[in-house]
Amino acid sequence: MIDIVDRIRNKKLHDRIVTAEEAAAYIKPGMNIGTSGFTPSGYAKVVTTALAKRMEKEPFRINLFTGASTGPEQDDVLALAHGIERRAPYQTSRVMRKFINSGDIKYTDMHLSECAQYLRYGFMKRGLDVAIIEACAITEEGNIIPTTAVGNAASYVQQADVVIIELNVSQPEELEGMHDIYVPLDPPNRLPIPIIRPGDRIGTPYIPCDPQKIKYIVPSNVMDNTRSFTPIDDNARKMSAHIIDFLEVEKAAGRMPKNLLPIQSGVGSVANAVVHGFVESDLKDLSVYTEVIQDGMFDLIDAGKLTVVSGTGFTPSPEGLKRFYKNIKEYRKHIVLRPQEISNSPEVIRRLGVIAMNTAIECDIYGNVNSTHIMGTKMMNGIGGSGDFARNAYLTIFCTASTAKDGQISCVVPFCSHVDHTEHDVDIIVTEQGLADLRGLSPKERAKEIIEKCSHPDYRAELREYFERADRETAHAQTPHLLEEAFSWHTRYVKTGTMLK
Ligand code: COA
Repeated sequence: MIDIVDRIRNKKLHDRIVTAEEAAAYIKPGMNIGTSGFTPSGYAKVVTTALAKRMEKEPFRINLFTGASTGPEQDDVLALAHGIERRAPYQTSRVMRKFINSGDIKYTDMHLSECAQYLRYGFMKRGLDVAIIEACAITEEGNIIPTTAVGNAASYVQQADVVIIELNVSQPEELEGMHDIYVPLDPPNRLPIPIIRPGDRIGTPYIPCDPQKIKYIVPSNVMDNTRSFTPIDDNARKMSAHIIDFLEVEKAAGRMPKNLLPIQSGVGSVANAVVHGFVESDLKDLSVYTEVIQDGMFDLIDAGKLTVVSGTGFTPSPEGLKRFYKNIKEYRKHIVLRPQEISNSPEVIRRLGVIAMNTAIECDIYGNVNSTHIMGTKMMNGIGGSGDFARNAYLTIFCTASTAKDGQISCVVPFCSHVDHTEHDVDIIVTEQGLADLRGLSPKERAKEIIEKCSHPDYRAELREYFERADRETAHAQTPHLLEEAFSWHTRYVKTGTMLK
């Protein structure tokens, strides 16, 4: 308790300390609740757990808005308690995915840079009633020092009628100073976001908060429930090598500086493998302007190859989190954590000339990408920040293994069953088979490049045959398709029962 009191530097706020159950009792049916954090980092844990327990006894539902995915103490428990009516903007919980795909939860999958603004404008049916924010300290003025992620916390504090703080003593106070909080004004009053280099600081090291708004402070010592990465497999290693070879060619051609342009790397094991590949390459003085900061970034810092990394949250493995805490004084020299409206800002991404690397579920022969829907219908996770980066980056790369489900499904198909990123946004497709450079190509040229470089040999002849026949039968149309046949690539797997369980 002494530790908690020490961390609430505004003594007038000490009488707001309550239990998680007392804070959860404030939440009423139908409320819009906004929480801090991004991925299983810096998210509200104890109040949401207490809320789920309450919902099990007296069933009711809320609408939940986060930064992105959260940990099991939020998405899993609230979904299991049937406590969520509406959810946005992104999630990765297997439990919640089931409820989304059974229609129990109304899920608005959206660009992460836009979520705070959606709520500010009231597009989510009503304003924000309560913000639940994880903090590592509260300043003398009542301002909030966030923890391992920012997400939408700053905007939610601004918007909410009431703020509940989870003061988490498992989060080190040394996090203070790592954040850079800047919330843009809405049009027509918005100013240019003055970030010229990835490490520029433009805001405050805390979330500004009127102390009157802080209704409760709840002690917590629950650590971020981070997940281990799947080990880097052969496919991921090959994709990483294709990308690094390609970037070397770009450098040699003078299209990129020696230290590249700022890198964004998405979630998952391929992204991790690519970053790992950078550690083993000759590249140095790299910078990162991304959303999530994974273990690989710590490797790059340790190898002296990375000068600065800007993101909105950490997504380390459990070992990576320990390593970060242990070397926090060194890492903090290189890290800036921003609100996701800024880490994912189209304006800044376009200005910096980011190299965006994200993962696809499938791509089609013309370069459209599906990041979200299995067989066009079942939600996997959501678009996350991939669209913020893909549309606005200087170079947009999508990786996917050439097949899924032990080779039963081709991830290169005639027509994506759902399109998140159109052919206009995608520059490069990479599979373990090779890399297709689509820049400047017409649709038919792209089809040849993707089929020959990226498809799996087991499906290549069939894709070639489809494309050639479609070209003939549409009298060489701009984007030749035989639609019924194109979609049969997906329905055949549904019929054989391979669809995601
Ligand atoms: N057809 C059917 N199923 C497929 C498939 C396809 N073409 N491709 C993959 N799958 C299945 C896999 O078999 C796996 O199924 P399982 O969970 O039953 O094992 C599942 O989809 C996930 O595939 P995996 O290869 O493990 O994916 P991943 O962990 O590399 O994640 C995405 C890939 C696309 C789901 C993930 O990157 C994502 O959610 N992206 C969108 C958000 C994003 O890009 N965020 C970063 C922006 S900064």
